[in-house]
Amino acid sequence: MCGIVGYVGEQAGLEVVVEGLRRLEYRGYDSAGVAVLDGGRLQVERRAGKLANLEKALAERSLPGTLAIGHTRWATHGPPTDRNAHPHLDAAGAVAVVHNGTIENFEVLVDRLERDGVVMQSDTDTEVVAHLVARAYDGDLAAAVRAVCRELEGSFVLVLAHRDEPDLVVAARRNLPLVIGLGDGENFVGSDVTAFIAHTREARVVEQDQVVEVRRGGVTVTDLDGAVVEGETYHVDWDTDAAEKGGYEFFMLKEIEEQPQAVRDTLGGRLTPEGLVHLDELSMSDEDLRGIEQVFVIACGSSYHSGLIGKYAVERWCRLPVQVEMASEFRYRDPVLGRNTLVIAISQSGETADTLEAVRHARSQRAWVLAVTNTLGSTISRESDAALYTRAGPEVAVASTKAVIAQITAMYLVGLYLSGIRGTRDADEVRAHLRDLQEIPDLIAELLTRMEPVRALAREIADEPRVLFLGRHVGYPIALEGALKLKELAYVSAEGYPAGEIKHGPIALVDQGTPVVVIATRHALQAKLLNNVQEVRARGARTIVLATDGDESAVAHADVLLRIPDTKSLLAPLLTIVPLQVLSAEVARARGLDVDQPRNLAKSVTVE
Ligand code: M6R
Repeated sequence: MCGIVGYVGEQAGLEVVVEGLRRLEYRGYDSAGVAVLDGGRLQVERRAGKLANLEKALAERSLPGTLAIGHTRWATHGPPTDRNAHPHLDAAGAVAVVHNGTIENFEVLVDRLERDGVVMQSDTDTEVVAHLVARAYDGDLAAAVRAVCRELEGSFVLVLAHRDEPDLVVAARRNLPLVIGLGDGENFVGSDVTAFIAHTREARVVEQDQVVEVRRGGVTVTDLDGAVVEGETYHVDWDTDAAEKGGYEFFMLKEIEEQPQAVRDTLGGRLTPEGLVHLDELSMSDEDLRGIEQVFVIACGSSYHSGLIGKYAVERWCRLPVQVEMASEFRYRDPVLGRNTLVIAISQSGETADTLEAVRHARSQRAWVLAVTNTLGSTISRESDAALYTRAGPEVAVASTKAVIAQITAMYLVGLYLSGIRGTRDADEVRAHLRDLQEIPDLIAELLTRMEPVRALAREIADEPRVLFLGRHVGYPIALEGALKLKELAYVSAEGYPAGEIKHGPIALVDQGTPVVVIATRHALQAKLLNNVQEVRARGARTIVLATDGDESAVAHADVLLRIPDTKSLLAPLLTIVPLQVLSAEVARARGLDVDQPRNLAKSVTVE
């Protein structure tokens, strides 16, 4: 939520920073702005709306200088207007600051500043930082930032420049992500490595309550008392190609196509030569794993749906009770946790505030916490006992696709691994499931060649005000995911239900021609599901049925039939999810919407 970038080096700072913002725009796109330092003057340009508005304004200005900071915003305090766009300056224009997060005590700080005669120029919580740092400044920007950070409450990543410090960008973090990019004669900070991946792949994660001094010749990290702290650098194992559209109109379309590889990479290196699973990353002894008596999965949005699918696998294979909870609710109902509890926190970004707080709560109750995340070094991975990385590569579109498929794959791996350790499934069965899992990438690739009927369907239903999604068993979370995707991308009122439940109320939504998407691939409940389809059809629904190749039982119930390659019923979500992703993207496209950047959303939701 909010993307920030800072640069100091020999290149034109504005270009480096705007390029970084382009890659970070998925984090928020309510407004964008930059500040460039040139000849002792901080020049600022900022605009409401998407980055394109800022770029248009910049085309009419010249902002030379080799030190720059930039921001792309997801509004929290104050509407998305030019005046609330970052960077913010103090009254004298000496300090410029960009900020990701929320400063919870900002009202107290504003009162204090206003009593001292400061006139606030924006509705944001961020502006106080510029004024406070300017007042604390005594020739040492980093010292001033450390002093102000000690006063701030809440979550923040701050990046600042001072007009009297031509070779210094200072950044600080609490609770939110900040990464340093280490170049040659130039250095960077950013919300994530995409901010500077075009320039360097050497990175270092900034830890909690650290302040970074970024200069052309090097980087110094200190704690809030000014003591220097060492840290490890790492090499990013993907490059700019992975973070670019590669000829696709939208990132989401590219990321959908990358799903076979996402599954392959998530499985890669985790299977033994004997055809079993090894997950060294779990860092729990076999004895501890055998002592687990209950599992909670905590997550938000699409990651929550991955958790629901994982529940079916873990319960079936491990005979362990699994509860899947929306992270935003989890800790507030005081769940019963303990050393016998494994909590699996699923998060693509590894930064979602609701999930992070749930992780902290679980750890405070002594539960084991395993993060399933796509982001190396993310806060959730670092605050958990162990991290299992889904290796889906960078996901830029706000709507999650390849990351979700990788999460589901990871949950299957966890289930099979635990079942082996706990002895609930024998080695032959585990091997057989893994063989099925290894076939999935090719099946997804084949399925992706069959998307033309899905695109045609999308064009047909593009103007429908309401769509229902029904499924049973593992088809139910897929119905939820299909509905979420259509809501978030196409702004269509879409509901996902377990098909057996609709007769208890939701069937009242069905009217003549209402599109009802049914996940009806082969499984034990299929006959019952088809009865439910009859019920909606009898009330005028137009049924769009996803059925397994060669299965004729669904044909008579379908107005539109979409075929899915055959696989084991428990693994079918890895396939049935694909046409629903394509459907939502194509409906959004047909409605003339921005598929990658739906309104009101941000990729990484770092506020509770
Ligand atoms: O980064 P996370 O996986 O923690 O994000 C969770 C949700 O915010 C995310 O899945 C969201 O629902 C996406 N917009 C789904 O497409």
